[in-house]
Amino acid sequence: MALSDKDRIFTNLYGLHPWGLKDARRRGNWDGTAAIIAKGRDWIIEELKQSGLRGRGGAGFPTGMKWSFMPKSNPDGRPSYLVVNCDESEPGTCKDRDIIRHDPHTLIEGCLIAGVGMGAHAGYIYVRGEYYNEHLVLQAAIDEAYEAGLLGANAAGSGWDFDLYVHRGAGAYICGEETALIESLEGKKGMPRLKPPFPAAVGLYGCPTTVNNVETIAVVPEILRRGASWFASFGRPKNSGTKVFCIQGHVNKPCNVEAEMSIPLRELIDRYAGGVRGGWDNLLAVIPGGSSTPMIPKAVCDDVLMDFDALREHKTGLGTAGVIVMDKSTDLIKAIARLAQFYKHESCGQCTPCREGMGWQKRLMDRMVEGRAEIAEIDVLESVTRQIEGHTICALADGGVWPVQGLIRHFRPMMEERIQQYHAKKNGGVMPLAAE
Ligand code: NAI
Repeated sequence: MALSDKDRIFTNLYGLHPWGLKDARRRGNWDGTAAIIAKGRDWIIEELKQSGLRGRGGAGFPTGMKWSFMPKSNPDGRPSYLVVNCDESEPGTCKDRDIIRHDPHTLIEGCLIAGVGMGAHAGYIYVRGEYYNEHLVLQAAIDEAYEAGLLGANAAGSGWDFDLYVHRGAGAYICGEETALIESLEGKKGMPRLKPPFPAAVGLYGCPTTVNNVETIAVVPEILRRGASWFASFGRPKNSGTKVFCIQGHVNKPCNVEAEMSIPLRELIDRYAGGVRGGWDNLLAVIPGGSSTPMIPKAVCDDVLMDFDALREHKTGLGTAGVIVMDKSTDLIKAIARLAQFYKHESCGQCTPCREGMGWQKRLMDRMVEGRAEIAEIDVLESVTRQIEGHTICALADGGVWPVQGLIRHFRPMMEERIQQYHAKKNGGVMPLAAE
């Protein structure tokens, strides 16, 4: 079902209206919040489960289930915490930024309801350091929510006390990983922790914690207002709801847009982003869900659906829904080498396969860009990625090797041709048999 304006949760994604409380209320935010909360924690969680909402930060973990992991009581005196991940750093992703700067009350109201849903009286929003102006808007919106009695003691007249704090990061991609984020919030160097224990058992300050992405929390109030079945009516089973897609690269009109889940990729690009530059036939490949998700070639793009399960069938993922469109003018090998450089730079260095492997991968990719390699080294590169994947504490290294694996999977002939061209140029047209 195509989404109409009345079905959009984010009514000010483009900043066409003021973000302040008065206008936010006019657009429907904070409507009946106390009544929602009065229905109780179990109802909130059950409704979220029925809605099919899955985490919008990239991993797609079922939200209702995640909240249900939080303890129902705190007999040992440890408080529970909500942490909102706004460290949005995945290349190709800029949706949470627009939510906090144009529609901050969707998030703030969501934090209060999430606090009730997981038994937390305090929430921390960890904002990427580079989002300086955005964090000012968010803080100002929180301030006016306090002034209006929507936060603090008896928040929104719900009988629930809830405080909300903004914390700024310092520009490290790894701090978006939930346990590194928790370490950073505690004032330590952002390095991921081993899981388990998961944060619901041992999180912030050793207390039960749930970390959710901005978009995940921000859609909660509207789901509960309109009902789980309304949200579940968009998309497909297990891939339901609306979703903010960030469409960029070689399209005529790059944009963020809230559309229905499972929309065909081609329709998403044509309808909302003005189509591929030079027309659909000029498309070469698309990275569908932020830099960590492997690219898919045009043949797959022709009819793939944009959801978790459909993209997984093609060995990629929905990720953050950062759609990077690359037309035929793109040097794909160079583009992926640039990502390899990014992941090398952002590795925290804690795990050897990541610390050393990201460097290996980058150096091999740099040579692939020039073609200064042997064809057999494509297999070496592939094997390096396989030795890194799954052998580290967090997912940074996995996300770092998947783009390279995607390149090899779909564009190996292009890499071979580059190598042949390099040697042909160097040797006057003769391909060497041995290593150079
Ligand atoms: P994950 O699959 O390990 O975990 C997802 C969430 O589910 C976490 O909150 C985790 O605590 C919870 N969880 C998973 N299994 C659980 C269990 N058995 N019990 C309790 N809780 C459980 O994925 P992760 O590492 O959190 O995220 C990876 C994704 O993040 C990537 O797929 C990528 O798309 C995305 N990403 C997003 C970025 C952004 O800027 N938004 C940046 C980089 C990556």
